[in-house]
Amino acid sequence: MNPLSEHAFRTAVPRRYLMCRPSHFEVTYSINPWMDPEKAVDRDLAVLQWERLRDLYVELGHTVESIDPIPGLPDMVFAANGATVVDGRVLGARFRNEQRAAEGPAYAQWFRQNGFADVRDPEFINEGEGDYLVTESWVLAGCGFRTDPASHQEAQDFFGRPVIGLHLTDPRFYHLDTALAVLSRDEIMYCPESFSEGSRAVLRRLFPDALPVSREDADVFGLNAVSDGYNVVLPEAAVRLGRQLAARGYNPIGIDLSELLKAGGSAKCCTLEIRGAASAASVRADAPARTACVV
Ligand code: ARG
Repeated sequence: MNPLSEHAFRTAVPRRYLMCRPSHFEVTYSINPWMDPEKAVDRDLAVLQWERLRDLYVELGHTVESIDPIPGLPDMVFAANGATVVDGRVLGARFRNEQRAAEGPAYAQWFRQNGFADVRDPEFINEGEGDYLVTESWVLAGCGFRTDPASHQEAQDFFGRPVIGLHLTDPRFYHLDTALAVLSRDEIMYCPESFSEGSRAVLRRLFPDALPVSREDADVFGLNAVSDGYNVVLPEAAVRLGRQLAARGYNPIGIDLSELLKAGGSAKCCTLEIRGAASAASVRADAPARTACVV
C-alpha cells in the first residue's frame, strides 16, 4: 500500500491566531540558554521574518489578529506565552521572570477588550501556550523550568479538560512548545530526550503513534512548529523532520526566523492560537468592534 494513502485524509482547518510585531525586539537580558545579550540582533530583519510568517498564515487561510507591542517588552513578540485559550475561555499568563511580568496583564487586557468575557487572572505561574499544548483529548502541560506544576490543576479546573503534566529536563528546551508539537487531533511529535523518564513513559502510553523527532531537529527548533492539521510551519533548518512530516501526509513549510531564535523562539512561540471564539453571549456590551483580520 502506498504509505501516503492512509494519510490522505489530512485536512487543513482554518485557525485564528494572535501575533505581536517585534517592533521593540532585542536581546538585553538572558533568561534561557539561547539568549546572549552580547550577540548582535538585527531588528529590521526580525520584523521582516515575522511579517513573512504572518503573511504565510494569511495565505494559508488563517485569521491573524494583532496586539500592539509595548516598548520595554522585547520578548512580547512571543505571543504564545501570553495566554492559553480553549473553548473561548482565556487563562491569563503569569511569567516566572520579572523582565516579562508586564506581558501577562497586557495580553489579558487584549482579550477583555476583544469580547472575551471569561478571562482568568492566574493564581500560579504559567507561560501560556509555551507550556500548554492542546490536543483533542487532553491539555499537555510542561513544567520544570517556567510553569509551576500547581498551575496544571488550575488549568484543569478552569478548562474542564484533563491536563497531563510533563516534566522538561533540558534547559535548552525550557518550554513545552520547544520539545513537542501537536500536529492534528491527538497526533503529536516530540523529542524524547527533552523529557524525564516518567514523562516519556506517559507520552508513549498516550501517543503510541507519535512522530519521533531527533535531537538534531530539536536543536534547530524544529518542534517549535505550527500545524493546521495539514500545513506544518516550522524552521527550514529542520530538514529531516520536514521529510518525516511529508511521509505522514503533512505539508511541511520551512521558514527562516533566525533573529527570533537568538531569543530562544521560533514559529510557534510567535503564535497564540485562539480556540473557540468568544460566544455572542459572552461578548461584553462595551467591547469595541473587532476587526476580522488585522495585518
Ligand atoms: N526569550 C523568551 C523567553 O525566554 C522566549 C520565549 C519563547 N516562547 C515560547 N513559546 N517558547 O521567555
